[in-house]
Amino acid sequence: MKIKETIIEGMYQIKIDQKNRLATRNKVPGTNVYGERLVKINDEEYRLWDPFRSKYAAAFLSGMKFLPQLKKKNILYLGVSTGTTPSHFSDILDNGYIYGVEFSPKIMRKFYRLAEQRPNLIPILADVRRPEEYSSYVFDVDLLYQDVSQPEQATIFGRNAQEYLKPGGDGVIAIKSQSIDVSLEPEEIFSKQMSILEDKFDLKVIEHSSIDAFEKKHAVIVIRKE
Ligand SMILES: C[S@@+](CC[C@H](N)C(=O)[O-])C[C@H]1O[C@@H](n2cnc3c(N)ncnc32)[C@H](O)[C@@H]1O
Repeated sequence: MKIKETIIEGMYQIKIDQKNRLATRNKVPGTNVYGERLVKINDEEYRLWDPFRSKYAAAFLSGMKFLPQLKKKNILYLGVSTGTTPSHFSDILDNGYIYGVEFSPKIMRKFYRLAEQRPNLIPILADVRRPEEYSSYVFDVDLLYQDVSQPEQATIFGRNAQEYLKPGGDGVIAIKSQSIDVSLEPEEIFSKQMSILEDKFDLKVIEHSSIDAFEKKHAVIVIRKE
């Protein structure tokens, strides 16, 4: 098996059976999180990172060039669910923390269990539409990541960016067009969401791409707060 680091520090590409797979070095060896395969190379264990289960990995494989680095960041992650993508971020992070917000108590129970094994995950049971509710738990962050199926996705992101993203900080937002309006073309929705981010919240859109090959009617947008 051949391994090399990608342009994202801590994200690896491993060649298995003639196919390139993404992976992170496992911080909790011997344990997987969502059924992903574990592979050992030179005495180190890696977890394969499934782009069909993770929009950051899907965005990378869709050719996005400006996805922010993760390694040295503190991250506010909106919509952590049971922790598929957050677990890979947790593998990559050096000393930072991932503040993970989720509003479903049932789903959050699983994320709590994951956080018990991974001290850089900080679970927060709250609604991302009300960012003021978690101000006692979250310090300003370098990266805001959002993956929630809500009608007002850009507005939720913008309000959280105003509250918690440092100037010069990066953002990644996964947009599900079907949660916004099923009657409009996805491209029309993506472009409206980008206008809200830029015009209403003064965020700079750096790059955007459809991730249709992995998730139908989804796009990923990379922003910067200037
Ligand atoms: C698509 S899943 C996230 C998957 C996760 N980002 C990953 O890649 O592993 C979206 C999650 O957002 C949560 N969610 C939706 N609306 C929310 C809200 N208003 N506040 C907090 N969480 C919300 C849902 O309960 C769900 O668990």
